[in-house]
Amino acid sequence: TQAPTASFTVIPNRRPATDEERWLAMEDPVFGKVFTDHMARATWREGDGWADRRIVPLAPIPLHPAAAVLHYAQQAFEGLKAYRWADGSIKLFRPEANAARLAASCRRMALPEVSEEDFLAAVEGLVEVDQNWVSGTDGASLYLRPTVIATEASLLVQPAAEVDLLVTASPVGAYMGAAGEGVSIWVSRGYHRANPGGTGDTKTAGNYAASMLPQKEAKEHGCSQVLFLDAREDTYVEELGGMNLVAVRADGSVLTPRLTGTILPGVTRDSILTLLRDEGRTVEERDIALSELVEGMESGEIVELFACGTAAVVTPIARLVSDDLDVSVPERSEDDGPSVAETMRVRLTDIQYGRAEDPHGWVREV
Ligand code: COI
Repeated sequence: TQAPTASFTVIPNRRPATDEERWLAMEDPVFGKVFTDHMARATWREGDGWADRRIVPLAPIPLHPAAAVLHYAQQAFEGLKAYRWADGSIKLFRPEANAARLAASCRRMALPEVSEEDFLAAVEGLVEVDQNWVSGTDGASLYLRPTVIATEASLLVQPAAEVDLLVTASPVGAYMGAAGEGVSIWVSRGYHRANPGGTGDTKTAGNYAASMLPQKEAKEHGCSQVLFLDAREDTYVEELGGMNLVAVRADGSVLTPRLTGTILPGVTRDSILTLLRDEGRTVEERDIALSELVEGMESGEIVELFACGTAAVVTPIARLVSDDLDVSVPERSEDDGPSVAETMRVRLTDIQYGRAEDPHGWVREV
């Protein structure tokens, strides 16, 4: 174990959860509803830069009602996980990639960048202090949620002069639950997630706020997630409410929407594409018309669809539904062997939990 709290001063929670409270909270947590005893925090002021790096007891934060984040959503966030290995050690998965993406998101949102060093120190310091919240149970992990918010009390539409970095940690299981046969996805027709030049490739609050009404529509149609088409031509599939989309062809090759600037560059997406290429598969990143998917599913040319993300990991999709659409992925038989989605889920989680070699050096010791 390194000394991750070097730059983050720890102020311990003097009333942490008891062992029993913690075990109960971690038993079957609803995603993002249970939090650990501490949070990491740092404060930025125009002219001074980042300061006051600290790990403090988790508590509500006082905010001025005119804090810019509450009015103009000047914000950026990340999602990553800490995993407990069988040997008791705790590892992070590609946190440098999350640090780089947060820096990019901060640039787009006119927020001060968080350096990779600060990002890692905050995340690792928090995991270290709250290490007994990292469960060793199968499929469990500690979900880390860094967020950068504009705290300055100002109604001027301009970059805030006061900003906070906050990191909370949340014990989690699988985001969409056991998918089994695969989930149904609602293809949004009236709504788009992102537009060229907008913030589609930025991990920022507003993208998720805007996805909630279409997501609600999806739920009303019995679907667990919404899929968005591109705003320019209303033709090409982009991404789901909070995860990327992958299709597998009968010949074993793989298709996924290319990163056009309107799609979030998922760390899980990139990892899975890398693992697929390692297997010698052809991976095409390009524009994919919804009609191409639908026709492929009907003809048997497309044999699998799945969603991937940090929270979702890999979730098979069984069906695409919309007002004028209801098409299912061809059913698999026993002889088909394991699906690509399942193979990738196992491949990825084996690396994350230390059950397999880490050929790309993705795992980082806490
Ligand atoms: C993640 O996968 O980390 C996300 O941020 C997606 C969110 C919808 C839970």
